[in-house]
Amino acid sequence: MSHDFPSYRGHMEYRCLGCGTRRPGDSLLYTCPDCGGVFLLENTDFAALKEHDGQYWRDLFDARLSTRTTALRGVFTYYDLLAPIFDEEDIVYLGEAHTPVVDASPALQARVGIPFAYKNDGQNPSASFKDRGMACAFSCLKWLCRSNSWDEVLTVCASTGDTSAAAALYAAYVGSPLKSVVLLPHGKVTPQQLAQPLGSGATVLELPGVFDDCMKVVEILAENYRVALLNSKNAWRILGQESFAYETAQWYGWDVSNLCLFVPVGNAGNITAIMNGFLKMLDLGIITSLPRIFGVQSEHADPVYRYYSAPAETRVWEPVTVRPSVAQAAMIGNPVSFPRVRELAERFIQTGGERAFQVVQVTEQQIMDAMIQANRHGHIVCTQGGETLAGLMNARALGLVGEGERAVLDSTAHQLKFSGFQNMYFSNTFPPEYGVRPDPSLANMPELVLPESEREGKSVAEFAKLGARAVADRLKLAGK
Ligand code: F0G
Repeated sequence: MSHDFPSYRGHMEYRCLGCGTRRPGDSLLYTCPDCGGVFLLENTDFAALKEHDGQYWRDLFDARLSTRTTALRGVFTYYDLLAPIFDEEDIVYLGEAHTPVVDASPALQARVGIPFAYKNDGQNPSASFKDRGMACAFSCLKWLCRSNSWDEVLTVCASTGDTSAAAALYAAYVGSPLKSVVLLPHGKVTPQQLAQPLGSGATVLELPGVFDDCMKVVEILAENYRVALLNSKNAWRILGQESFAYETAQWYGWDVSNLCLFVPVGNAGNITAIMNGFLKMLDLGIITSLPRIFGVQSEHADPVYRYYSAPAETRVWEPVTVRPSVAQAAMIGNPVSFPRVRELAERFIQTGGERAFQVVQVTEQQIMDAMIQANRHGHIVCTQGGETLAGLMNARALGLVGEGERAVLDSTAHQLKFSGFQNMYFSNTFPPEYGVRPDPSLANMPELVLPESEREGKSVAEFAKLGARAVADRLKLAGK
């Protein structure tokens, strides 16, 4: 064991959010066998961590940033807060997490009117935030395989494209006894996202319909067959995603008092993990107040927004039928983690007040315009990152975010995964159901400055002269 690997071990239990039953965490469980509810994982020995004060934890996590013990890098910088039951040999690290927080360019900031930054979770190994969760879920699988001597485990997930890319990558890295199968809604993931599990060697199965349909299928598989589910129903995955909260707090010197975080909401796993992370830090005195959390949803897939926009006493949970959305990775009408949102939002509001948790809605047009603008200002955001910027702008317009505040926007995946939507914007080819009308002044296309035939029959030197003249003419360059 490396000299700095902690000796503290906790005790993890699943707590059902439906009936409150607790079950040991050393098994693969996704929903409560008694009531069908979803779980949160809890360390029943969490109180032992309170033997140290907030300063101790802040100093420890700051010191860990320079460790060369790979099992304490990435999401496991915060080992003690996540899953302090794994041994060093169980931990899978592919370079995920500690993604950069990049201040918005001055010109973009001027448009929005308050300081804000993007946390670029697209700069993870599979180019989305899902790697945070997979690092934890696959460490758990390794731990379970080792403790139970399992000789074959089939991992499955339904996906809008990013969970599958991450699951396939981590399974390929760990290798035997894990084998990865991913289930995708046919034609509803981008070509780049589809290429990822194919490249990692996973079995890629497609079904007609949307993500919500595939999710129902894997739920039946997980209930009736020996498979390991890697969707956010798997509470171990959600746990790893808490690291986004820990990193954000750490980046701002553990002072999050004037921060507003904007998070795109699909299956609602990420936003719940982030809230849980902040609540744990508050409990341990690592932070002294909560930030504000804003969920953002497109009006084409907005069940969580609808729920919270109703007055508290009349709220009724109702899934929606989704319409095509450019925030395709979050295009989910029946989020499996909704019970987690309700529980954590309540705790957030109890502690931080009514303004601590809110959900804003954005249009497809606003998402696209915001993504294009962000990337024209030097950012690398995906459509969901466009969604969070649109969410901030709407929150500003509604007076929900004031002058003295600072926003952190979660760009959950890399720009390149969603370049098809950029192409549709630039070539004005959005199918009508998206309802997006591009601003033609922003269209950008490659220009061929010489026809193919001009290359033929010329030496490199001759062609270079011709090419240089053509480029100089096109740019109206002045000689020197
Ligand atoms: N942004 C991206 C890039 C996503 O891939 C997802 C979810 C979300 C936001 C929404 O996060 O589900 O935790 O609320 N993608 C899942 C998938 C559903 O299958 O890749 P959430």
